[in-house]
Amino acid sequence: MSTVLINIRELLQIRSKMERPLRGNEMSILPSLTEAYLRIDNGRISDFGEMRYYQPHENEEVIDLQGKTVLPAWCDSHTHLVFAGNREQEFVDRINGLSYEEIASRGGGILNSAQTLRETSEEELYLQSAKRLEQVIAMGTGAIEIKSGYGLTREAELKMLRVIARLNKNYPVTVKATFLGAHAIPSEFKNDADGYITYMIEEVLPEVGAENLASFIDIFCEKGYFTVEQMNRFLEAGAKYDLRPKVHVNQFNAFGAVPAAVEQHALSVDHLEVLEEEDLQALSRSETIATALPLCSLFLSIPYTPARKIIKANIPLALATDFNPGSSPSGNMNQVVSLACIKMNMTPEEAINAATLNAAFAMGVENEAGSITIGKKANLIITEEIPSYAFLPYDFGHLNIAEVWLEGKPAARKADVIFQP
Ligand code: NIG
Ligand code: FE
Repeated sequence: MSTVLINIRELLQIRSKMERPLRGNEMSILPSLTEAYLRIDNGRISDFGEMRYYQPHENEEVIDLQGKTVLPAWCDSHTHLVFAGNREQEFVDRINGLSYEEIASRGGGILNSAQTLRETSEEELYLQSAKRLEQVIAMGTGAIEIKSGYGLTREAELKMLRVIARLNKNYPVTVKATFLGAHAIPSEFKNDADGYITYMIEEVLPEVGAENLASFIDIFCEKGYFTVEQMNRFLEAGAKYDLRPKVHVNQFNAFGAVPAAVEQHALSVDHLEVLEEEDLQALSRSETIATALPLCSLFLSIPYTPARKIIKANIPLALATDFNPGSSPSGNMNQVVSLACIKMNMTPEEAINAATLNAAFAMGVENEAGSITIGKKANLIITEEIPSYAFLPYDFGHLNIAEVWLEGKPAARKADVIFQP
């Protein structure tokens, strides 16, 4: 069955197949067609062009978009969407003067979420997470990476990864799983981070590999969490199971984690709120993608990742939400794009490129998502009538999305999820 969308005011992010993410000046170009049509066959983009070349086909559904803009659905390449409960009390504690690090050192933070998750059944964890997934789909997300990391035991990590697999099966959104076995040091291994890494490598990683539960491996390389040596050991063990690194580095401190992650062929290094010259140099000589998480900077009042320096150094930059209960309780990619423009001085073209095509590369779905390309999934955002695409980040806080289409079908309308798993 074929469907064609006609009278599209502007069709954004049209590309032929790309081999590499965009870097430097490439990020400032957002190719588009005005007055366009887009054809979908079997859930995939089969044709697009200018309206003046549009030829109707027999027996196809024609939808007149009457001047609306179409762009590829967002790719959110870094989230912790599967979690149990919330941490609003820590939010209040921070308002009253405690820092994120102080809360964590008192047993709050990630360990607080891990405790709640261990006490939550797999079914309940699935239901809480499915609700969040439906919310982010309605906000235009068509591909999403989701991490484990709030389990910190064999049983609870596997529980998280199975929930991620079930979400992938039941929703038309593209889901990629990351094994974040080293997110924090649980109380069972207090003062023995090396022992915890050994436990994860010996007791959990083989099961993740055997059940094919993840595509990527992640570690929180940060003072008070894991060292560069521990990161290297963990990532080398993951490589034996073909898990490519996507790592949390340089959120609060820079101490050589970025060059080390580059050495480990990381697909992406994420956070980078603190970035030094040696980090920029290591990245600019590599294929590793830098991922900025501006909602985390906003929510924790920490510096924003220096996007202009990254783009100037010719490093590919992606944007993601970091959706999690502690540092970014929002999975709204529209706000990510707005903040990238407002706080990181990215142009709308750069921000949209970073949140679609480059983010698709940063989660290994560049052949499926992230651009309007023949053969890719028809994962689309159909906007309200907007004067130009710059209006999207400009009109921050408003969702100018009329419909979200996934795999060639409407998945959500006006922030109303209509997809039923
Ligand atoms: O990316 N920095 C480490 N992990 C998450 C936060 C986890 C939490 O606070 O629950 C992040 O910000
Ligand atoms: Fe994160």
